[in-house]
Amino acid sequence: MPHTRSMKMTTAFALDNEPLYQAWKRDKLAEYPSSLADLLVEIADPFALTDRERSALLARCAKSNMALFRLLHPEKVQSNPLPALTAQLGIHELDRNLGAGEDGLSALTPGGSAYDPFAAYIPYRAAAIGWHTDGYYNPADHQVQSLCLYCERPAHEGGENELLDHELVYMQLRDRNPQWIATLMEKDVMTIPARLDAQGEVARPERSGPVFSVNAEGTLHTRFTNRHKSIRWRSDSATTEALAAFRQVLQEPSPYLFRGRLQSGWGLISNNVLHTRNAFRDLPDAEGRILYRARFFDRLPSR
Ligand SMILES: [Fe+2]
Repeated sequence: MPHTRSMKMTTAFALDNEPLYQAWKRDKLAEYPSSLADLLVEIADPFALTDRERSALLARCAKSNMALFRLLHPEKVQSNPLPALTAQLGIHELDRNLGAGEDGLSALTPGGSAYDPFAAYIPYRAAAIGWHTDGYYNPADHQVQSLCLYCERPAHEGGENELLDHELVYMQLRDRNPQWIATLMEKDVMTIPARLDAQGEVARPERSGPVFSVNAEGTLHTRFTNRHKSIRWRSDSATTEALAAFRQVLQEPSPYLFRGRLQSGWGLISNNVLHTRNAFRDLPDAEGRILYRARFFDRLPSR
């Protein structure tokens, strides 16, 4: 749901309610996680979460929009646990994007796209991927609210992720210049050009949207890519300045930025936080890196 006038009084992310924003900020920064270990929840059986495990995952997502999990017995898991795990957390509306398999999950491994024309797309290659949120090119009414990963096998070398809570990027920008937030909330600030198929037909129409938007329940959604290809930013000076400030925040050393590599049996549960992926390398005669990815149109419940 787009941001509307009636929700301005109830969300800290509207620019016209400074006391609410300041109260939110105090809460947000109080005991904010300071290491990967703070985000990590150990799980005995992903097909039957205990109340404690479920609450621990959701509490971390409520605080920092992300949690990591580690299966205590990955050798006992016979199938990808992500569908069962995410269902138990209360997210169900899978984004069955074109690269995904019939189960709606994407196998992120070189050559893993279920849709052949996407095989050359960057998630299915070993190259580095810069800062982005998932599905920034989706239509406004089908935004990716949550993003979950499960690592079956890490790369021989590389493949680390950086993770950054988008609410903290919002906070740093707003504290420096609220006008940047106003600009990045405008609905035509970023445009993803149409995608054409091999025949030159429009497979996905051109789409414009904001970077920051407020969901119906008052939470913050962020669309972003640091790519310069297949993205067109509005060309006025306000947008150029706000975008430069956004990129500056991503470059600065930050105590809120987490960096790590998912190991076998590890995964990420998140409200589609900003993230990167380093390039990786597998050995030519060994099985390669494989991560499963699930994207959802619903956000993780707060508990
Ligand atoms: Fe991604």
